[in-house]
Amino acid sequence: MKLAFVGKGGSGKTTLASLFARRAAALGHPVMAVDADINQHLAAALGLDPEAAAMGPVLGERMADIKDYLRGDNPLIPSAELMLKTTPPGPGSRLLTVGETNPLYEEVFTETEGIRFAATGGFVDDDLGVACYHSKVGAVELMLNHLIDTRDEFVVVDMVAGAEAFASGMFTRFDHTFLVCEPTLRSVGVYKQYAGYAADYDVNIAVIGNKIDDEDDVEFLREHVGDALLGWCGRSRYVKAAERGKVGPVEELEAENLAVLDAARERARAAGKDWAKFTRQAHEFHRKAAAAWGNDRAGVDLAEQIVSDFVLGEHLLHTETASTGCR
Ligand SMILES: Nc1ncnc2c1ncn2[C@@H]1O[C@H](COP(=O)(O)OP(=O)(O)OP(=O)(O)O)[C@@H](O)[C@H]1O
Ligand SMILES: [Mg+2]
Repeated sequence: MKLAFVGKGGSGKTTLASLFARRAAALGHPVMAVDADINQHLAAALGLDPEAAAMGPVLGERMADIKDYLRGDNPLIPSAELMLKTTPPGPGSRLLTVGETNPLYEEVFTETEGIRFAATGGFVDDDLGVACYHSKVGAVELMLNHLIDTRDEFVVVDMVAGAEAFASGMFTRFDHTFLVCEPTLRSVGVYKQYAGYAADYDVNIAVIGNKIDDEDDVEFLREHVGDALLGWCGRSRYVKAAERGKVGPVEELEAENLAVLDAARERARAAGKDWAKFTRQAHEFHRKAAAAWGNDRAGVDLAEQIVSDFVLGEHLLHTETASTGCR
């Protein structure tokens, strides 16, 4: 399951994404966690050394390698230059699975508590004027578009704050989106904005309330987000201690907060995967990107890279039309 954690700045996206990932991994699920925010805090929240993570190879700097790896020997993508962040896989492309080993994972991912972690890399001064945050996140979009995950595997992406997440087709790359929401007007405002955009794309969204102090807070959220409210986390001593550098085993999180993580996991699994929709939307956003800027730059019609009946899904793991790194 591909899962996004979104919401207003400071609402608790990184905190809940890391706890979700750690809980799922502790229960034995294969888990991948990706920091796709401009402010990179997920490594620290997972208990990794943030400085080492910032120094290490990051996805955003490996775009050309990622493209070269994923295009494999797909004849419709003869070079990395002709691959956009939206270019979908087709026959000959390399597909990814959560649990495999491949050169890409070995180079860019680190492992902690059974979680495979990678970051897009922050926005550094050198980027000003020459690159943008969206091109870095493009590396994640490409990987998600080539990743065959199952219901029992979780790919957790910590997203950029607010509605910035809609600047590309990324928001459609998830089986489920969890919007973290404090009991404030600004936080529910972000939910309303998100739900508005997402409605046209049939995006599954659930709200997880956060930093809830009392029944009034819950009532406020119910009033503003209605049935979208999946559950809520109270202010947590565990999180506070973690913030001070004492990251305990995830089982030590308060029982009621663990229950919310479990409910979120079950919600995602129950919603299931819709590979046909995933593929259709990948094609739709690739056509848009090709028409908007890709074709001009490439000098050819990149929409021709789309193989309409190449639908991503588990069936491809058992065919000869595509390869994954594990073989
Ligand atoms: N349930 C909670 N109980 C106590 N503190 C919390 C809780 N959730 C989050 N916090 C604290 O709130 C602050 C913001 O949380 P976090 O960094 O997870 O938010 P974010 O949405 O990822 O922020 P940003 O937009 O900056 O990425 C942190 O100091 C975190 O420790
Ligand atoms: Mg964050």
